[in-house]
Amino acid sequence: MKKIEAIIRPEKVALVTEALAEAGIVGLNTTQVSGRGVQKGVMHVGRGGMTIKVDMLQKTKVEVVVKDADAEKAIAIIIENARTGEVGDGKIFVSTVTDAIRVRTGERGDKAL
Ligand SMILES: Nc1ncnc2c1ncn2[C@@H]1O[C@H](COP(=O)(O)OP(=O)(O)OP(=O)(O)O)[C@@H](O)[C@H]1O
Ligand SMILES: [Mg+2]
Repeated sequence: MKKIEAIIRPEKVALVTEALAEAGIVGLNTTQVSGRGVQKGVMHVGRGGMTIKVDMLQKTKVEVVVKDADAEKAIAIIIENARTGEVGDGKIFVSTVTDAIRVRTGERGDKAL
C-alpha cells in the first residue's frame, strides 16, 4: 500500500476528491495546513504601496492510502485536477504503508482500504 499526501490549493480540493471517488478511491483525509515552497511565501502589495510578506500559505493536505496498483492512477488524478500551471500548485509525497486494519471487521491490508 502507498500513502499519498498531496498538498494542494484549497480551491482544488473538491475537484480532486470528486475525481478520486469516480475512480473508486473514496476513503481519505483532508487537513488545512500552513506551509511554504521554494518561493518562501509571497509578497503582497497593499494600498498605498505597502508591501506585506506572507511567509506561510494556506494549503490543504489530501491524505489517501491506496493499494499499490492504484497509486499511479491516484497521482495522475490529483495532478490533472489540482494543476493550474502557476507556482504554488502543490506537491505530492508518496510513502509505503506496511498495514491497514478495518476496526469493525479486523480485515487487513488492501481489504481494509
Ligand atoms: N519539501 C517540502 N516538504 C514538505 N512540504 C512541502 C515541501 N515543499 C512544499 N511543501 C508544501 O507544499 C505547498 C505547495 O508547495 P509549492 O507548490 O509552492 O512547491 P514549490 O516547490 O515551491 O513548487 P512551485 O515552484 O510550483 O511553487 C507548500 O506551501 C508547503 O505546504
Ligand atoms: Mg512554490
